[in-house]
Amino acid sequence: MTDTHALMARRDVIGLRIGVLVSGNGTNLQAILDACARGDIAGGVVLVVSSSAKAFALERARRAGVPTVVLTPKEFSDRASYDARLIELLRTAQVELVCLAGFLRILTPQFVEQFAGRIMNIHPALLPAFGGPGMYGAHVHEAVLASGVKVSGCTVHFADETPDGGPIILQSPVRVEDDDTVESLAARVGVEEHRLYPAAIRLFAEERLQVIGRRVYVVDPAGPRAPAPAGRALLREGDNFESAGLTQAKKV
Ligand code: GRF
Repeated sequence: MTDTHALMARRDVIGLRIGVLVSGNGTNLQAILDACARGDIAGGVVLVVSSSAKAFALERARRAGVPTVVLTPKEFSDRASYDARLIELLRTAQVELVCLAGFLRILTPQFVEQFAGRIMNIHPALLPAFGGPGMYGAHVHEAVLASGVKVSGCTVHFADETPDGGPIILQSPVRVEDDDTVESLAARVGVEEHRLYPAAIRLFAEERLQVIGRRVYVVDPAGPRAPAPAGRALLREGDNFESAGLTQAKKV
């Protein structure tokens, strides 16, 4: 579906207009769709763009009644023209927050500039460890297991033109067990991803994310906007954010 009329169609969405970029299965997209449907996020997904026609994420979007567009790299002569079309689509759909959810492409500086501070990504490890070029999918968990670290996890961060770069919004740790395989670790990290990504989007929708340099502070909507020492957003159930003058996002 690529006609402009269809992209404008989601006028029913009240609140934050979210565009999700995907390339694969779309379990994170599903978590975002479900959180919006439950009302946990004050907004909705208005467009899903996939770099692959085979991505199951497209089916998830269609089931949720969200317009989809397939943009395969081979249709474009270079990254700049690909991203120019992507910008056009997202603008037409009046997207306010771009969520990368397993989108296997590196963004051009032009794209990042267009949506500065309004692009999020999720990564299946605790950045800056196990991130960067080549670190995607099973490669991440393979590297984690090979390194012998005892803790992995996932990270939601604002995206810039560097792969897995940009200020970190939320992180959640996952223990690495002695008998873990790539599959077992990926499954447990996935559970955390599906909780963490909607939580970060919810905070964005509530205008509770304040970025100062490399640091992202989760601020109380009623409280001061100045940074607090404990404001780094390692979101765990039971953490005492209130004592630091901050309010922890509800678990979603
Ligand atoms: C996730 O592990 C995410 O962290 C990474 O790509 C994977 C996408 O999985 N960026 P899915 O398509 O959301 O199931």
